[in-house]
Amino acid sequence: MKIAKRLEAFDAYLGTAMNVILTRMKDEGKDVINLGLGDPDVQPPEEQRQALADACMDVDHHHYPSFYSPMPFKEAIAGWYRRRFNVTCDPESEVLTLLGSADGLFHIHTCLLDHGDIALVPDPCYPAYVAGVKIAGGEIETVPLKKENGFLPDLDAIKPDVAQKAKMIWVNYPNNPTAAVATEEFYLNLIDWAHQYNVAVISDNPYSEVCFDDYRALSFLQFDGAKEVGIEFNSLSKAYNACGWRTGMMLGNKDIIAGMAKIKSHSDRGMFYPLQVAATEALNGSTDFMIERNRMYQKRRDVVVNGLLEMGLDLQTPRATFYVWADIPKGFKDSKEFCFKVLDEIAVWMIPGSMYGTYGEGFFRIALTHPAERLAEAMQRLGKFLC
Ligand SMILES: Cc1ncc(COP(=O)(O)O)c(C=O)c1O
Repeated sequence: MKIAKRLEAFDAYLGTAMNVILTRMKDEGKDVINLGLGDPDVQPPEEQRQALADACMDVDHHHYPSFYSPMPFKEAIAGWYRRRFNVTCDPESEVLTLLGSADGLFHIHTCLLDHGDIALVPDPCYPAYVAGVKIAGGEIETVPLKKENGFLPDLDAIKPDVAQKAKMIWVNYPNNPTAAVATEEFYLNLIDWAHQYNVAVISDNPYSEVCFDDYRALSFLQFDGAKEVGIEFNSLSKAYNACGWRTGMMLGNKDIIAGMAKIKSHSDRGMFYPLQVAATEALNGSTDFMIERNRMYQKRRDVVVNGLLEMGLDLQTPRATFYVWADIPKGFKDSKEFCFKVLDEIAVWMIPGSMYGTYGEGFFRIALTHPAERLAEAMQRLGKFLC
Protein backbone atom coordinates (compact mmCIF):
# COMPACT_ATOMS: atom_id res chain seq x y z
CA MET A 1 0.00 0.00 0.00
CA LYS A 2 1.35 3.47 -0.88
CA ILE A 3 0.88 5.18 2.50
CA ALA A 4 1.65 8.93 2.56
CA LYS A 5 5.23 9.90 3.43
CA ARG A 6 3.98 12.45 5.96
CA LEU A 7 3.03 9.60 8.30
CA GLU A 8 6.72 8.87 8.74
CA ALA A 9 7.24 12.30 10.31
CA PHE A 10 5.51 11.52 13.61
CA ASP A 11 4.79 8.66 16.03
CA ALA A 12 1.41 7.31 17.09
CA TYR A 13 0.05 8.86 20.29
CA LEU A 14 2.37 7.82 23.11
CA GLY A 15 -0.27 5.93 25.10
CA THR A 16 -0.95 3.53 22.22
CA ALA A 17 2.21 1.38 22.40
CA MET A 18 2.36 1.44 26.21
CA ASN A 19 -1.20 0.16 26.53
CA VAL A 20 -0.16 -3.03 24.72
CA ILE A 21 2.81 -3.57 27.08
CA LEU A 22 0.82 -2.80 30.24
CA THR A 23 -2.10 -5.01 29.21
CA ARG A 24 0.31 -7.89 28.55
CA MET A 25 1.91 -7.43 31.99
CA LYS A 26 -1.55 -7.47 33.61
CA ASP A 27 -2.48 -10.62 31.64
CA GLU A 28 0.68 -12.21 33.06
CA GLY A 29 -0.73 -11.56 36.54
CA LYS A 30 1.43 -8.54 37.46
CA ASP A 31 -0.14 -5.92 39.73
CA VAL A 32 0.65 -2.99 37.44
CA ILE A 33 0.08 0.56 38.68
CA ASN A 34 -0.31 2.72 35.60
CA LEU A 35 0.55 6.30 36.60
CA GLY A 36 0.70 7.31 32.96
CA LEU A 37 -2.91 7.86 31.99
CA GLY A 38 -4.42 11.37 32.34
CA ASP A 39 -8.01 10.11 32.45
CA PRO A 40 -9.89 10.87 35.69
CA ASP A 41 -10.95 7.79 37.70
CA VAL A 42 -14.02 9.74 38.87
CA GLN A 43 -17.27 10.26 36.93
CA PRO A 44 -19.35 13.26 35.89
CA PRO A 45 -21.96 14.12 38.60
CA GLU A 46 -25.06 11.91 38.63
CA GLU A 47 -27.45 14.60 37.36
CA GLN A 48 -25.27 15.11 34.31
CA ARG A 49 -25.14 11.40 33.55
CA GLN A 50 -28.92 11.29 34.01
CA ALA A 51 -29.37 14.24 31.62
CA LEU A 52 -27.36 12.32 29.03
CA ALA A 53 -29.40 9.15 29.53
CA ASP A 54 -32.71 11.07 29.29
CA ALA A 55 -31.59 12.92 26.16
CA CYS A 56 -30.78 9.58 24.51
CA MET A 57 -34.45 8.55 24.87
CA ASP A 58 -35.68 11.47 22.75
CA VAL A 59 -36.38 10.09 19.26
CA ASP A 60 -35.48 13.42 17.67
CA HIS A 61 -31.95 13.26 19.08
CA HIS A 62 -30.62 10.59 16.73
CA HIS A 63 -30.39 12.54 13.47
CA TYR A 64 -27.29 14.18 12.07
CA PRO A 65 -26.63 17.08 14.38
CA SER A 66 -26.00 20.50 12.87
CA PHE A 67 -22.23 20.84 12.49
CA TYR A 68 -22.46 24.46 13.57
CA SER A 69 -24.28 23.22 16.72
CA PRO A 70 -27.54 24.64 17.94
CA MET A 71 -27.27 27.73 20.05
CA PRO A 72 -28.00 26.39 23.55
CA PHE A 73 -24.63 24.64 23.82
CA LYS A 74 -22.70 27.57 22.37
CA GLU A 75 -24.55 29.97 24.67
CA ALA A 76 -23.72 27.74 27.62
CA ILE A 77 -20.03 27.81 26.63
CA ALA A 78 -20.05 31.60 26.32
CA GLY A 79 -21.91 31.83 29.67
CA TRP A 80 -19.36 29.57 31.39
CA TYR A 81 -16.45 31.71 30.15
CA ARG A 82 -18.29 34.88 31.21
CA ARG A 83 -18.92 33.63 34.75
CA ARG A 84 -15.63 31.85 35.20
CA PHE A 85 -13.15 34.26 33.53
CA ASN A 86 -15.16 37.42 32.88
CA VAL A 87 -14.58 36.84 29.15
CA THR A 88 -17.27 37.97 26.70
CA CYS A 89 -17.63 36.00 23.46
CA ASP A 90 -20.43 36.13 20.92
CA PRO A 91 -21.85 32.56 20.87
CA GLU A 92 -22.60 32.79 17.14
CA SER A 93 -19.26 33.98 15.80
CA GLU A 94 -16.71 33.55 18.59
CA VAL A 95 -17.53 30.06 19.90
CA LEU A 96 -17.21 26.65 18.25
CA THR A 97 -18.03 23.25 19.72
CA LEU A 98 -15.49 20.46 19.31
CA LEU A 99 -15.47 16.68 19.64
CA GLY A 100 -13.09 17.02 22.56
CA SER A 101 -10.43 19.69 22.40
CA ALA A 102 -8.24 17.10 20.61
CA ASP A 103 -10.49 17.67 17.58
CA GLY A 104 -9.55 21.36 17.56
CA LEU A 105 -5.91 20.73 18.46
CA PHE A 106 -5.62 18.67 15.32
CA HIS A 107 -7.50 20.86 12.81
CA ILE A 108 -6.09 24.19 13.96
CA HIS A 109 -2.89 23.45 12.03
CA THR A 110 -4.76 22.91 8.76
CA CYS A 111 -6.61 26.14 9.46
CA LEU A 112 -3.49 28.27 10.03
CA LEU A 113 -0.55 26.68 8.24
CA ASP A 114 0.27 26.47 4.57
CA HIS A 115 3.02 24.10 3.46
CA GLY A 116 6.34 25.14 5.07
CA ASP A 117 4.81 27.70 7.47
CA ILE A 118 6.36 27.95 10.91
CA ALA A 119 4.59 26.96 14.12
CA LEU A 120 6.23 27.75 17.47
CA VAL A 121 5.80 24.65 19.60
CA PRO A 122 6.82 24.34 23.26
CA ASP A 123 9.12 21.52 24.29
CA PRO A 124 8.13 19.52 26.32
CA CYS A 125 4.51 19.53 25.17
CA TYR A 126 1.34 17.54 24.65
CA PRO A 127 2.36 15.39 21.63
CA ALA A 128 -0.68 16.27 19.48
CA TYR A 129 0.78 19.73 18.74
CA VAL A 130 3.86 18.22 17.07
CA ALA A 131 1.90 15.63 15.07
CA GLY A 132 -0.65 18.29 14.03
CA VAL A 133 1.99 20.62 12.59
CA LYS A 134 3.65 17.78 10.70
CA ILE A 135 0.41 16.44 9.25
CA ALA A 136 -0.46 19.94 8.02
CA GLY A 137 2.97 20.23 6.33
CA GLY A 138 4.19 22.99 8.66
CA GLU A 139 7.65 23.45 10.15
CA ILE A 140 8.27 23.33 13.89
CA GLU A 141 10.43 25.89 15.68
CA THR A 142 10.96 24.63 19.19
CA VAL A 143 10.30 26.91 22.15
CA PRO A 144 12.10 25.34 25.13
CA LEU A 145 10.27 25.24 28.46
CA LYS A 146 13.05 25.32 31.04
CA LYS A 147 12.88 24.67 34.75
CA GLU A 148 14.74 27.92 35.51
CA ASN A 149 11.95 29.87 33.72
CA GLY A 150 9.16 28.08 35.59
CA PHE A 151 8.52 26.07 32.39
CA LEU A 152 7.24 29.23 30.66
CA PRO A 153 8.50 30.13 27.17
CA ASP A 154 11.13 32.85 27.01
CA LEU A 155 9.62 35.05 24.28
CA ASP A 156 12.73 37.25 24.13
CA ALA A 157 14.76 34.21 23.17
CA ILE A 158 12.72 33.69 19.98
CA LYS A 159 14.77 35.23 17.18
CA PRO A 160 12.93 38.19 15.56
CA ASP A 161 13.30 36.72 12.04
CA VAL A 162 11.68 33.47 13.27
CA ALA A 163 8.90 35.37 15.07
CA GLN A 164 8.35 37.46 11.92
CA LYS A 165 7.77 34.31 9.84
CA ALA A 166 5.83 32.27 12.44
CA LYS A 167 2.08 31.84 11.95
CA MET A 168 1.16 30.44 15.38
CA ILE A 169 2.45 29.76 18.89
CA TRP A 170 1.11 27.10 21.26
CA VAL A 171 0.73 27.86 24.97
CA ASN A 172 -0.75 25.46 27.51
CA TYR A 173 -1.23 26.57 31.14
CA PRO A 174 -1.87 24.89 33.51
CA ASN A 175 0.62 22.75 31.65
CA ASN A 176 0.78 19.13 30.68
CA PRO A 177 3.27 17.59 31.37
CA THR A 178 5.10 20.04 33.68
CA ALA A 179 2.06 21.16 35.78
CA ALA A 180 3.42 24.74 35.58
CA VAL A 181 0.98 27.66 35.71
CA ALA A 182 1.14 30.99 33.89
CA THR A 183 1.24 34.45 35.45
CA GLU A 184 -0.77 37.52 34.40
CA GLU A 185 2.49 39.15 33.36
CA PHE A 186 3.26 36.25 31.04
CA TYR A 187 -0.08 36.58 29.21
CA LEU A 188 0.25 40.38 28.93
CA ASN A 189 3.71 40.04 27.38
CA LEU A 190 2.53 37.25 25.11
CA ILE A 191 -0.35 39.35 23.76
CA ASP A 192 1.98 42.33 23.10
CA TRP A 193 4.47 40.04 21.42
CA ALA A 194 1.75 38.38 19.27
CA HIS A 195 0.49 41.80 18.15
CA GLN A 196 4.03 42.92 17.34
CA TYR A 197 4.84 39.88 15.17
CA ASN A 198 1.31 39.06 13.97
CA VAL A 199 1.46 35.50 15.34
CA ALA A 200 -1.73 33.63 16.32
CA VAL A 201 -1.74 32.52 19.97
CA ILE A 202 -3.30 29.11 20.43
CA SER A 203 -3.99 28.56 24.11
CA ASP A 204 -4.85 25.06 25.31
CA ASN A 205 -6.55 25.26 28.70
CA PRO A 206 -8.20 21.91 29.54
CA TYR A 207 -6.90 21.91 33.15
CA SER A 208 -8.37 25.31 34.06
CA GLU A 209 -10.70 23.74 36.65
CA VAL A 210 -8.23 21.37 38.32
CA CYS A 211 -6.53 23.70 40.79
CA PHE A 212 -5.23 23.45 44.38
CA ASP A 213 -4.50 25.58 47.44
CA ASP A 214 -6.93 28.39 46.44
CA TYR A 215 -5.15 28.85 43.11
CA ARG A 216 -7.55 29.70 40.24
CA ALA A 217 -6.18 29.22 36.75
CA LEU A 218 -6.26 32.10 34.29
CA SER A 219 -7.57 32.20 30.75
CA PHE A 220 -5.50 33.77 27.96
CA LEU A 221 -8.76 35.37 26.76
CA GLN A 222 -9.30 37.37 29.93
CA PHE A 223 -6.64 39.90 28.91
CA ASP A 224 -7.24 42.92 26.65
CA GLY A 225 -6.34 42.38 23.02
CA ALA A 226 -6.35 38.56 23.29
CA LYS A 227 -9.27 37.95 20.95
CA GLU A 228 -7.56 39.93 18.19
CA VAL A 229 -4.58 37.57 18.22
CA GLY A 230 -5.82 34.16 19.22
CA ILE A 231 -8.16 31.55 20.53
CA GLU A 232 -8.45 29.23 23.51
CA PHE A 233 -9.39 25.57 23.66
CA ASN A 234 -11.15 24.11 26.66
CA SER A 235 -13.05 20.93 27.37
CA LEU A 236 -15.40 19.10 29.70
CA SER A 237 -12.92 16.19 29.86
CA LYS A 238 -10.95 17.17 32.96
CA ALA A 239 -13.20 19.95 34.27
CA TYR A 240 -16.29 17.70 34.46
CA ASN A 241 -14.54 14.27 34.68
CA ALA A 242 -15.97 13.49 31.25
CA CYS A 243 -13.07 12.51 28.95
CA GLY A 244 -15.20 9.90 27.18
CA TRP A 245 -17.90 12.40 26.22
CA ARG A 246 -15.58 14.11 23.72
CA THR A 247 -17.11 17.50 24.41
CA GLY A 248 -14.78 20.42 23.82
CA MET A 249 -14.89 24.03 22.72
CA MET A 250 -12.91 26.86 21.26
CA LEU A 251 -13.47 30.56 21.82
CA GLY A 252 -11.94 33.78 20.57
CA ASN A 253 -10.86 35.17 17.23
CA LYS A 254 -13.72 35.26 14.70
CA ASP A 255 -11.56 34.52 11.64
CA ILE A 256 -10.02 31.42 13.19
CA ILE A 257 -13.42 30.23 14.42
CA ALA A 258 -14.91 30.68 10.92
CA GLY A 259 -11.99 28.79 9.34
CA MET A 260 -12.33 25.94 11.81
CA ALA A 261 -16.10 25.75 11.29
CA LYS A 262 -15.49 25.42 7.54
CA ILE A 263 -13.00 22.57 8.04
CA LYS A 264 -15.24 20.80 10.55
CA SER A 265 -18.24 21.04 8.22
CA HIS A 266 -16.35 18.42 6.17
CA SER A 267 -14.46 16.48 8.84
CA ASP A 268 -17.37 15.61 11.14
CA ARG A 269 -21.12 15.86 11.32
CA GLY A 270 -21.27 17.67 14.66
CA MET A 271 -21.72 16.48 18.21
CA PHE A 272 -24.29 13.81 19.16
CA TYR A 273 -27.35 15.79 20.35
CA PRO A 274 -27.68 14.05 23.74
CA LEU A 275 -24.08 15.05 24.51
CA GLN A 276 -24.89 18.65 23.59
CA VAL A 277 -27.90 18.55 25.92
CA ALA A 278 -25.92 17.03 28.81
CA ALA A 279 -22.93 19.31 28.28
CA THR A 280 -25.22 22.36 28.16
CA GLU A 281 -26.78 21.30 31.45
CA ALA A 282 -23.35 20.71 32.98
CA LEU A 283 -21.98 24.11 31.96
CA ASN A 284 -25.12 25.93 33.12
CA GLY A 285 -25.26 23.93 36.37
CA SER A 286 -23.46 24.03 39.70
CA THR A 287 -19.70 23.58 39.84
CA ASP A 288 -19.75 22.73 43.57
CA PHE A 289 -18.65 19.16 42.88
CA MET A 290 -15.31 20.52 41.63
CA ILE A 291 -14.41 21.77 45.11
CA GLU A 292 -14.54 18.28 46.62
CA ARG A 293 -12.99 16.73 43.52
CA ASN A 294 -10.04 19.12 43.64
CA ARG A 295 -9.58 18.44 47.38
CA MET A 296 -9.36 14.77 46.49
CA TYR A 297 -6.71 15.40 43.81
CA GLN A 298 -4.87 17.67 46.25
CA LYS A 299 -4.66 14.89 48.86
CA ARG A 300 -3.33 12.56 46.18
CA ARG A 301 -0.86 15.21 45.06
CA ASP A 302 0.43 15.48 48.63
CA VAL A 303 0.89 11.70 48.89
CA VAL A 304 3.01 11.70 45.73
CA VAL A 305 4.89 14.97 46.35
CA ASN A 306 5.77 14.02 49.94
CA GLY A 307 6.73 10.54 48.83
CA LEU A 308 9.08 11.82 46.11
CA LEU A 309 10.58 14.50 48.37
CA GLU A 310 11.31 11.86 51.03
CA MET A 311 13.17 9.91 48.33
CA GLY A 312 15.31 13.02 47.78
CA LEU A 313 13.88 13.90 44.34
CA ASP A 314 13.61 17.48 43.14
CA LEU A 315 10.22 18.89 42.07
CA GLN A 316 7.82 21.83 42.34
CA THR A 317 4.54 21.17 44.18
CA PRO A 318 1.87 21.53 41.46
CA ARG A 319 -0.81 24.20 41.89
CA ALA A 320 -2.95 22.78 39.10
CA THR A 321 -3.47 19.77 36.76
CA PHE A 322 -3.41 16.22 38.05
CA TYR A 323 0.24 15.68 37.17
CA VAL A 324 3.46 15.69 39.13
CA TRP A 325 6.63 16.45 37.15
CA ALA A 326 9.90 15.59 38.85
CA ASP A 327 13.62 15.23 38.13
CA ILE A 328 14.74 11.66 37.61
CA PRO A 329 16.98 10.34 40.40
CA LYS A 330 20.75 10.40 39.96
CA GLY A 331 22.41 7.27 38.61
CA PHE A 332 20.22 6.72 35.54
CA LYS A 333 21.32 7.44 31.98
CA ASP A 334 18.06 9.12 31.02
CA SER A 335 14.32 9.27 31.77
CA LYS A 336 13.49 6.25 29.58
CA GLU A 337 16.06 4.06 31.31
CA PHE A 338 14.69 5.11 34.72
CA CYS A 339 10.99 4.64 33.87
CA PHE A 340 11.41 1.31 32.07
CA LYS A 341 13.60 -0.07 34.91
CA VAL A 342 10.89 0.99 37.37
CA LEU A 343 8.26 -0.72 35.22
CA ASP A 344 10.31 -3.93 34.90
CA GLU A 345 11.22 -4.20 38.54
CA ILE A 346 8.23 -2.84 40.49
CA ALA A 347 5.42 -2.75 37.89
CA VAL A 348 4.81 1.00 38.22
CA TRP A 349 4.50 2.95 34.97
CA MET A 350 5.44 6.63 34.90
CA ILE A 351 6.02 8.57 31.68
CA PRO A 352 9.61 9.47 30.75
CA GLY A 353 9.93 13.22 30.16
CA SER A 354 11.70 12.68 26.84
CA MET A 355 8.43 11.31 25.42
CA TYR A 356 7.20 14.94 25.55
CA GLY A 357 10.23 16.37 23.74
CA THR A 358 13.99 16.86 24.00
CA TYR A 359 13.68 19.38 26.83
CA GLY A 360 11.58 16.88 28.80
CA GLU A 361 14.72 14.76 29.21
CA GLY A 362 15.77 14.43 32.84
CA PHE A 363 12.17 14.44 34.12
CA PHE A 364 9.27 12.02 34.54
CA ARG A 365 5.50 12.52 34.92
CA ILE A 366 3.06 10.90 37.31
CA ALA A 367 -0.74 11.18 36.85
CA LEU A 368 -2.83 11.43 40.02
CA THR A 369 -5.77 9.51 38.57
CA HIS A 370 -5.73 6.73 41.18
CA PRO A 371 -7.01 6.54 44.77
CA ALA A 372 -4.59 7.88 47.40
CA GLU A 373 -3.96 4.34 48.78
CA ARG A 374 -2.88 3.12 45.37
CA LEU A 375 -0.58 6.11 44.92
CA ALA A 376 0.86 5.44 48.40
CA GLU A 377 1.52 1.85 47.34
CA ALA A 378 3.31 3.11 44.21
CA MET A 379 5.43 5.48 46.33
CA GLN A 380 6.29 2.66 48.71
CA ARG A 381 7.44 0.43 45.84
CA LEU A 382 9.45 3.31 44.33
CA GLY A 383 11.04 4.15 47.70
CA LYS A 384 12.21 0.51 48.09
CA PHE A 385 13.43 0.42 44.47
CA LEU A 386 15.56 3.53 44.98
CA CYS A 387 17.12 2.68 48.34
C1 LIG B 1 -2.76 19.61 27.25
C2 LIG B 1 -3.90 18.80 26.73
N1 LIG B 1 -4.62 19.29 25.73
C3 LIG B 1 -5.66 18.62 25.22
C4 LIG B 1 -6.02 17.38 25.71
C5 LIG B 1 -7.17 16.66 25.07
O1 LIG B 1 -8.31 16.84 25.80
P1 LIG B 1 -9.76 16.44 25.25
O2 LIG B 1 -10.19 15.26 26.05
O3 LIG B 1 -10.62 17.63 25.46
O4 LIG B 1 -9.63 16.10 23.80
C6 LIG B 1 -5.30 16.84 26.77
C7 LIG B 1 -5.64 15.50 27.29
O5 LIG B 1 -4.98 14.90 28.08
C8 LIG B 1 -4.21 17.57 27.29
O6 LIG B 1 -3.47 17.09 28.30
